Amino acid sequence: MRPRENHTPFVAVIFGLTLTIIAAFQIYIFREPTRIAADEAHDKSVAVAEGRALFVPYCTACHGKQGEGVAGPALNDRQFLAETSDQTMFSLISSGVPGTKMPAWNQSLGGPFTDQQVSQLVAFIRNWEPTAPDRHAEAQKGDPAKGLIIYKSTCIICHGANGQGTDRAPALNDPAKLAQFDDAWYAFAITAPRVDCQLRRTRLHPRRGRAATAASAGPAPPAGAACAPRLRAV
Ligand code: HEC
Ligand code: HEC
Repeated sequence: MRPRENHTPFVAVIFGLTLTIIAAFQIYIFREPTRIAADEAHDKSVAVAEGRALFVPYCTACHGKQGEGVAGPALNDRQFLAETSDQTMFSLISSGVPGTKMPAWNQSLGGPFTDQQVSQLVAFIRNWEPTAPDRHAEAQKGDPAKGLIIYKSTCIICHGANGQGTDRAPALNDPAKLAQFDDAWYAFAITAPRVDCQLRRTRLHPRRGRAATAASAGPAPPAGAACAPRLRAV
């Protein structure tokens, strides 16, 4: 009779190997998302760098080195970036904006760039988003000196040199009224989204161009406000 074989060492080795494989797999599963995230971050930073290399020679003349806007609108702008999806930005850059100085950039539309290059430009512009200034709010913060320039060039005709009013328009320097209404009310009165007001609105924000027209739905009226300027023609 053969002696009973001792399988114990063999079983122990198999068991040990199995544990090792399971452990290795766990580590793999655990590390995979980190690896994927690292790869994605790497791809993104490559796209951003490639996008920058295109933006600097081709776009800064009109959009500024920091995307602050020159002849073209600011792109490094919180509101623009929040409102514009990557896809929309891709088509804007691809097709340009007909009837404006913004040319088409995609090869499929006669421009110089491939889809990939346009995507890289989008990645570069999108990369501004976390630090993009709220230029719209800054523009609304108000600058009395600039306001005076606009007042003297435009408003004075109807509201008078000292805001005392004329036969064309009411006084703006009425202390009671100034005390009664806040800045938001005045901002609304001046930019009120009426057909009559829109011409003036667009003229006051020429740089925002199309964006200003799109925003012509205007700010919501502050509580209790009436749209003051009811001009038939400006
Ligand atoms: C010759 C001037 C010019 C150049 C060069 C130019 N743009 Fe523009 N771009 C404009 C103008 C002007 C507009 C605004 C068009 C309008 O009124 O809607 C604009 C609009 C845009 C918009 C939409 C902005 C918005 O608020 O809707 C994007 C995005 C844009 N440009 C990206 C680029 C990129 C990227 C490049 C470089 C590859 C570039 N532009 C080069 C003039 C230019
Ligand atoms: C063509 C004449 C005209 C011009 C130019 C004009 N306004 Fe007026 N504005 C009026 C008239 C008329 C009213 C009164 C409208 C009403 O009460 O319905 C008015 C009302 C206002 C009111 C509300 C005043 C109130 O007490 O109800 C404000 C604020 C105002 N304008 C600011 C401005 C500013 C700022 C400018 C320049 C950017 C300007 N207006 C340019 C004619 C004008």
